[in-house]
Amino acid sequence: MSSLLELDKVDAYYGAAHILHGLSLAVRAGERVALVGRNGVGKTTVVNTLLGLASLRGGTVRVGGKALPRPRTYQAAQQGVVVVPQGRRIVANLTVEENLLLGAAVGRKGPWSVPEVYRLFPILQERAHTPGTALSGGQQQMLAVGRALMANPSLILLDEPTEGLAPVIVDQLADIFSRVADQGTALLLIEQNMSLVVRVAHRYYAMAKGAVVAQGEVQNSRESLHQLEAHVMV
Ligand SMILES: Nc1ncnc2c1ncn2[C@@H]1O[C@H](COP(=O)(O)OP(=O)(O)OP(=O)(O)O)[C@@H](O)[C@H]1O
Ligand SMILES: [Mg+2]
Repeated sequence: MSSLLELDKVDAYYGAAHILHGLSLAVRAGERVALVGRNGVGKTTVVNTLLGLASLRGGTVRVGGKALPRPRTYQAAQQGVVVVPQGRRIVANLTVEENLLLGAAVGRKGPWSVPEVYRLFPILQERAHTPGTALSGGQQQMLAVGRALMANPSLILLDEPTEGLAPVIVDQLADIFSRVADQGTALLLIEQNMSLVVRVAHRYYAMAKGAVVAQGEVQNSRESLHQLEAHVMV
């Protein structure tokens, strides 16, 4: 089966700064994959290359098996590959519900709708008509995930979704991510919290200095946790 997302020997830059060096990874339908690595190794740049925010100057990015020589945000979304960006990027002067509806702009059909997102995150229904940025950090992350689901994605890229959140909220999000994956949506989970990774992911890639340096299976076990933590130790 072809991959939903594939980066093959990708070189990517910000201006003259060469950040990704021959990076390769792939996510197939229904997979739960983690991308781990220390601060600054280039994890977000993987996302930014797909979105056209970092410039692709070598190798190939494929979405749904089709090469994108000049990737753009809307191309990925149209193919069902949607990003929950680092820092959440909730639109300040829109309500919670309006933020959700933005996610549907791509017009893909599927199971997700405002009522379905509210079923997953009841707190968003309670706060439906408040400004999105008036929510707590954890609630804003739920809104960012809900907004991504509104696009009826086949793959969601989650860029450090639990950064700065309390453990109890991290636990809730771990359950949510597993439920979303159980319904068939593939995940690429960029994380530094390895206890979340072992609960959600089945496979991982570890990055250092703009390239993949290790990959393998993930188990929900202490051994797997320690193995993963070695990739993010400073
Ligand atoms: N817009 C930019 N212009 C120039 N350099 C950048 C830009 N954004 C990031 N970088 C540099 O690219 C490198 C990789 O950054 P990136 O944001 O991809 O790392 P990361 O692995 O996501 O880190 P973190 O875990 O802190 O989010 C870093 O050295 C960073 O300073
Ligand atoms: Mg990052």
